Amino acid sequence: MINTPYDLKYRPKILKRFLGQPNAVAQIRGFLKNTNIPPRILITGNTGTGKTTLARIIANKLNNSDEDTIEINVSDKRSIEDIRDLVKIIRFKPKHKYKVIILDEVQGIQKLSSNAFLKALEEPPPHIIWILCTNEPEALLPTIKNRCELIALEHIPPNIIIDNLLYIAGKEQLKIPPKSLMLACKYIAINSNGSIRDSINQFSAFVNRYSSNPKFKIDDSTFKSILLKTESPLDDLAVEFLVNVYKNNIASLIKLALINKDQLVSILFRTMLLNRFIVEELSGAANRRFIPLYKKFQSQIAKPNIKFSVLIHNKLIFVKKELLTKPIDEDSIICALSHL
Ligand SMILES: Nc1ncnc2c1ncn2[C@@H]1O[C@H](COP(=O)(O)OP(=O)(O)OP(=O)(O)O)[C@@H](O)[C@H]1O
Ligand SMILES: [Mg+2]
Repeated sequence: MINTPYDLKYRPKILKRFLGQPNAVAQIRGFLKNTNIPPRILITGNTGTGKTTLARIIANKLNNSDEDTIEINVSDKRSIEDIRDLVKIIRFKPKHKYKVIILDEVQGIQKLSSNAFLKALEEPPPHIIWILCTNEPEALLPTIKNRCELIALEHIPPNIIIDNLLYIAGKEQLKIPPKSLMLACKYIAINSNGSIRDSINQFSAFVNRYSSNPKFKIDDSTFKSILLKTESPLDDLAVEFLVNVYKNNIASLIKLALINKDQLVSILFRTMLLNRFIVEELSGAANRRFIPLYKKFQSQIAKPNIKFSVLIHNKLIFVKKELLTKPIDEDSIICALSHL
């Protein structure tokens, strides 16, 4: 069994280990190089992409210490008093150069804070650096948002998620046959929607299952059957994708793919599962979970044909392979989708 959860154990403490966010890292190195530190930094991004982690790395880097860092999770009920106290605290000079205040899950701050607090945020003394984190920037007051230097974290691409899981497996000296390990990492990478935390948690579940039963079969069909049972926020996009494949509407496919570039491999994977379901449904052996999605699909493609579905199944496998082996940029997306 795993003792310390991997996501905490492998939370990076230095920029060099902060993965898959080259733009954010370059931006921060730029501030540090010019010692031109913005007084308010806002870190946005989907859950599990590294907001809290990055806030802590920046705070530590500014002072080479954590002594002058205060971290408040605004979504926590007990934080009301902490926020009230901040107005007093920020008047005092820190031990090091800066006092860094991390306000995590900051989207609820308007409701909890006073005018005195908002003023402190707008016009902080020169030794104060605010770092705000949220995955709902649209819920923040524009007066707060617009005054911040924005660091927008992105979805982590599957190849980086795979490398990170292999790194953890190496550090943990896991005794899983390399081929099986790679297969598990690939499945997890395409099923974690660009969230490193999600991928690490899925990986922990996999390791626990494997260590309690080393005979646990690690093959394509085991993973597929696990994933078939899990719903995904990408399911609706998978329906849209597949409808366009059936209608041979390549222009719409490319548009959809480019808008959702960061999650494309995951969407494609869900599309393949859905299409496989259609093949099975048409031949009478389907998994029930996909019925609602199939109905949505059928409202647009009334009578799918089994031969055509099998053909699409094979083409999707090819496209997924293409995308998994190449960097996902505009050219490779267009090139891969043109095979559909
Ligand atoms: N860019 C990254 N590089 C390496 N590990 C990461 C990265 N992002 C996240 N992780 C891993 O995922 C875990 C969770 O990350 P973190 O708590 O920073 O995400 P978050 O964006 O703040 O999520 P939430 O929105 O749920 O608060 C970390 O402990 C770390 O193990
Ligand atoms: Mg967080």
